[in-house]
Amino acid sequence: MKTSIALIGFMGTGKTVVGRLLAQKLRKDFVELDAEIEKKAGRSIPEIFRLDGEVRFRELEIEVVKDISTRKNAVIACGGGIVLNKINIDRLKKKSVIICLTALPSVILKRTAPDKNGRPLLDVADRAREIKKLLDFRRPFYTRSADIIINTSRLGIDSAAEKILETLKDYESNHRQK
Ligand code: S3P
Repeated sequence: MKTSIALIGFMGTGKTVVGRLLAQKLRKDFVELDAEIEKKAGRSIPEIFRLDGEVRFRELEIEVVKDISTRKNAVIACGGGIVLNKINIDRLKKKSVIICLTALPSVILKRTAPDKNGRPLLDVADRAREIKKLLDFRRPFYTRSADIIINTSRLGIDSAAEKILETLKDYESNHRQK
């Protein structure tokens, strides 16, 4: 039985803030993969990208997923690029239901504006264009990886967490072994 939940989706869709609240509501542990990567590397995400490059970041991401994916009773907030390496999703699927959060590009642009320095991939002159480009490329990866998809464009943090709980209940009753 899967007792963990992995939240995937593009930057700014609410994985971390909603995930933290969801974990509280479900009385599960909350794990943020980016924070685990920072711990392991002894550097911030922007520093890893700047000093070691994106390829090294993706390697660290794979290593951290390998460790964390065995955890039971956890809500795991993944980084937006987790879907780029299929091995990550294969590992997460063993113990977690995969929930993909989505949002409109305009909403993502607004939500990621205050923290643009913390997200190296969006630290570019034309952020709107970059978001659209990355989203277009990644959309099929998110769709293919998800057990459940929830659009958070019009939802606040609490409503998004409640919506996940509700959808999860339906999902679990449909997937319970008979
Ligand atoms: C990334 C998303 C970030 C972080 C890194 C790369 C991506 O996580 O892992 O900057 O490739 O989409 P968030 O989705 O939590 O911002």
